[in-house]
Amino acid sequence: MALSQAFLIALIISGSAIVFDKIDVVDANIVQSMYINWRNNEAVIVGSDDLQLALDQTSGSGAVSKRTFLFGSFEMLIKLVPGNSAGTITAYYLSSDGSKRDEIDFEFLGNVSGQPYVVHTNIYTQGNDSSREQQFYVWWYIDSVPIRVFRNYQNKGIAYPNEQGMRVYASIWDGDNWATEGGRIKINWANAPFIAKFAQFRPRACY
Ligand SMILES: *[C@@H]1O[C@H](CO)[C@@H](O)[C@H](O)[C@H]1NC(C)=O
Ligand SMILES: *[C@@H]1O[C@H](CO)[C@@H](O)[C@H](O)[C@H]1NC(C)=O
Repeated sequence: MALSQAFLIALIISGSAIVFDKIDVVDANIVQSMYINWRNNEAVIVGSDDLQLALDQTSGSGAVSKRTFLFGSFEMLIKLVPGNSAGTITAYYLSSDGSKRDEIDFEFLGNVSGQPYVVHTNIYTQGNDSSREQQFYVWWYIDSVPIRVFRNYQNKGIAYPNEQGMRVYASIWDGDNWATEGGRIKINWANAPFIAKFAQFRPRACY
C-alpha cells in the first residue's frame, strides 16, 4: 500500500440519543469479515487482509461484509486506481438490504493522470435520497478529517439511518456517463484492468 492515492476512510455514525448497550470491536481481517459478491478475473482477496477489486470491459467487481452493523466506525485503507482513472468509480459505502434502504456513500470519481479525484458523498434514509445533507449525526472521515456531517432531525419527520443494520461494501465500476467532468471524459479501456486495493478493514461497531 506504499503507493500514491492511499486514503484512510472511516464512517462514524453516532447520536446523542443513542445508548450503546454493547460495542464490539470487530477486529477481524478482510478474509474473515468480507467476501467478493461481484467478481471478474482480477477481483481477489490476497492473503488474509488485502482485497483487490478491478474494472475491465467485462464488468466491475465488489465485496461486502458478512454481517450488518447499526452504529459504529468502519475504517479501511483504500488505494485508488493510479494513473488515468477517468470514468472509473471506486466506492466504499454502507447499505441495508431491501427496498426502503439506508445507505451512506463515499464514491471516488477518477480523473485523467495528474488531476484530482473528486469525493462524492450521498445518503439515503429509508429509500429517500434526501438532499438535506447537513442534518444527521453522521461523520465521514478521510484521513481523520470529517468531510460531511448529517444530524438527526427525526423530530421534524426526516428519516435517520438508525433502524436497520447495514453491510459495508467496496466496489469499482464504470461510471463514465457521469463521473469525470460530468461524463465528458470517458474510460480509456486501453488502460484496463483498473485496479483498486483495500486493506485493514476495521469495523468498530454494534449490531
Ligand atoms: C425525503 O427527502 C426530502 C428531500 O430532501 C426531504 O425534504 C424529506 O424531508 C425526506 N423525508 C423523510 C421522511 O426523510
Ligand atoms: C478532474 O480534474 C479537473 C481539472 O483539475 C477538475 O476540474 C475535476 O473536478 C476533476 N475531477 C473530476 C471527477 O472530474
